[in-house]
Amino acid sequence: MAKLIIEGGKKLEGEIDVQGAKNSALPILSATLLSNGENILHCCPIISDINVATRILRYLGCKASINDHTLIVDSSGMNRCDIPENLMREMRSSIVFLGAIVARAGEAEMYFPGGCELGPRPIDLHLSALRKMGVQIDERYGCISCRVRERLHGAKIVLPFPSVGATENIILAAVLAKGTTVISNAAREPEITDLCDYLCKCGAKIYGFGESTILIDGVDSLEGSVHTIIPDRIVAATLMAAAAVTGSELTINGIITSHLDAVLPLFEDAGCKMRIKDGRLKISCPKRLRAFKSARTMPYPGFPTDAQAVMMSVATVAKGTTVFVENIFDSRYRHVEDLTRLGASIKVANKVAVVEGVEKLFGAKVVAKELRGAASLVVAALGAEGTTEIKGINFLERGYENFEIALAQVGADIKKI
Ligand code: EPZ
Repeated sequence: MAKLIIEGGKKLEGEIDVQGAKNSALPILSATLLSNGENILHCCPIISDINVATRILRYLGCKASINDHTLIVDSSGMNRCDIPENLMREMRSSIVFLGAIVARAGEAEMYFPGGCELGPRPIDLHLSALRKMGVQIDERYGCISCRVRERLHGAKIVLPFPSVGATENIILAAVLAKGTTVISNAAREPEITDLCDYLCKCGAKIYGFGESTILIDGVDSLEGSVHTIIPDRIVAATLMAAAAVTGSELTINGIITSHLDAVLPLFEDAGCKMRIKDGRLKISCPKRLRAFKSARTMPYPGFPTDAQAVMMSVATVAKGTTVFVENIFDSRYRHVEDLTRLGASIKVANKVAVVEGVEKLFGAKVVAKELRGAASLVVAALGAEGTTEIKGINFLERGYENFEIALAQVGADIKKI
C-alpha cells in the first residue's frame, strides 16, 4: 500500500502547471460514444478515474489510446451497452455513461453506483429525467436496465436541484433525441460548458449552457472532433492552498479567473497577494494567514464543495476563526479527524464546521478517506512542522496527476513509498 512521506515547513517556489479538469474529461469521454469517427482530446489528465473511463470505453467496444496527454477515441466499434459491476464500483461517476449509452444503443444495463466516501450518491434525478425522455427503466437487485420504447424524444425537465451529473446525462441523452429538450435549473459548472463546447463542435445544437436554462435541439448524427479540456479549477485551488500554508510565492499556469471567482476572494481575505495575467496566477502568501471567516458550499458559481477540504487546511493555521457550511453533500467532513490528528482545532455539527486557527500543525500519521480529503491532508502536511505519513493515497491519485512529483519540483519535501 503506497503512502506519502512529507517533511513540512519547506517553502515552495517556481512555476507549476494545472492539469486538465477531471470532471470535464469524464463526461466528454462519455460523449465520444455519440459521434462517428475519431475524437482527439488534448490536455486529458493522467489519473486513475480517466483510466477507468478509458477501460469502460474499450469494454464497450470503442478504440481508445492515449499519447502523452492526448486521448484518441473512436466509438464506431461499440458493440455492448452494459457496464460491469466491478467497473461501476471502481468509479461511481461511471453513471455519466448512462445517457450516452442509451442514446447510442437504445438500451443500457449498469449497476447503481452505490454510496461513496461522501455519503449516499442518489441518481433519482438522472432516472426521472430519462423516463420523461422515453426511457423505460427497471431497477432491481441494484441493477439498472434501460430500454428506449420507440425513440428517445425531447422533454421539458425541471431539476429540483442543479445536479451536475443529472444535467450531463440529460444533455448526453438529448443531443440525438427527436425534438427539443429544455432543462430548467440546470447545473452551471464550467465542466458543463466544456462538455457542451465539445458537443457543439461535433454538430450538436445546444443553447444557454452555463446558465440555468439549457435548450437542446436533437440532431440525427454527430461527427468526431478535436477538443482541448479546460484546466482543473479544483487542482488550481489546491495548489494555491499549498502556497498559502507554506507562506510561499508560486506561479500557477492554467488559470481561468471566472472559474475561481468564489475562491480567489478567500485567499485575498487570508492576506495573499495575487496577480493574474494570460492564464498565469502569481500568488504571494504571508508568513501567517488571516482567517477568511466563512465558506459555504453552493452550486456554481458559488463556492465549490470540491474545494472545501483544501480550504479547511488553509483555515486550520490562519489567525482567527473560520466557519464552513457544507450544503452539497451529506458527509464531506471526513478529513476533519485527520486534520485534528495534525493538531487542528475543528468542531463539526452536521453541515457546519468551525475551525479555530492554530499557530502551526505538527506532522503525524494520517489516512485519507476520499479524494479531496486526501488533497487537504497533503496541503496541511506541507505546512506542518515535522514528518507526516499519509496512507490511502489511491484516493488522491483518482484526481491529481503525479501530485507528489509536481509539488517536489517546486520545493516540497514529499516522497511516495
Ligand atoms: C459532480 O458530482 C462532481 N463529480 C463532484 O466532484 C462534485 O462534488 C459535484 O458534481 C458537485 O459539484 C463529477 O463531475 C464526476 P451532483 P455529482 O449530482 O454529479 C444530490 C470530485 O471530488 N443528488 O451535483 O454526483 C447528491 O446526493 C467529485 O471531483 C441527488 O439527490 O454531483 C448531492 O448531495 C466529488 N439526486 C448533490 O445532489 C441525484 O439524482 C450534488 O450532486 C443527483 C444528485
